[in-house]
Amino acid sequence: MQTAVKTSQEMKYMRESGRMLATVLNLLKQELKVGMSTKDLSLIAANELKSLGGEAAFLGYQGYPDVICISVNNEVVHGIPNPSKIIQEGDIVGLDFGVRYRGMITDSAISVIAGKPKQRGHISLLEDTKKALDIGIAAIHDQVRTGDIGFAIESFLNKKRYGIVRDLVGHGVGHHVHEDPNIPNYGRPNTGPWLDKGMTIAIEPMVTLGTDNVTVAPDGWTILTTDGSWSAHFEHTVLITEEGSEILTQI
Ligand code: MF3
Ligand code: CO
Repeated sequence: MQTAVKTSQEMKYMRESGRMLATVLNLLKQELKVGMSTKDLSLIAANELKSLGGEAAFLGYQGYPDVICISVNNEVVHGIPNPSKIIQEGDIVGLDFGVRYRGMITDSAISVIAGKPKQRGHISLLEDTKKALDIGIAAIHDQVRTGDIGFAIESFLNKKRYGIVRDLVGHGVGHHVHEDPNIPNYGRPNTGPWLDKGMTIAIEPMVTLGTDNVTVAPDGWTILTTDGSWSAHFEHTVLITEEGSEILTQI
């Protein structure tokens, strides 16, 4: 039976899956250059994952047409790679990838600036979004509640004038890309479902330089900021442990 608390074997497979995922994202970060198309990056990801022995978890998930989501600037998440979408100097590029290995899935994302940043604010946006993820992860331990994690993330980001996207949230992950419970990037302490050691969750703050309103693009997938502001997204899959957590999607 599939349960939210993973067996030690399932955890081992997720560690392996996460290691492959981190390898692919590191490679993409290294290879990303101005003038490439987002489809070029998708092909690199697909080839590298194949040679590592993993399967692309997003391809075909709820009909999603590619192995990776690549979201640029005002695109928050779920951008579809496209050979005619060319990366420009200063673009903020979100790379969100999922790997399945022996049935077990991990999910992780990074945002990177292509070439020279346009504004110092773009560098801080990326740093603060990454920091929000780290702070969310630091709040995790056995018997933490989802509201405790969301509160930690929200309190940090609220010190600056950012939009925290509320329509999309982190989630359980493992047997499926999305499992219960939702892990919002906002919340109040001592609220929401309790999380037990052995559960695996994806934490993924999505942060904008404008408001938190988002809209779905005509392609039915891409999530855009409503006000056109630029955004960043970082995500890790973590295993909850007695004292804290283990990040599965880093090397
Ligand atoms: N990381 C994405 C999320 O949690 C997963 C993308 S699913 C896909 O929303 F269908 F868009 F591939
Ligand atoms: Co996710």
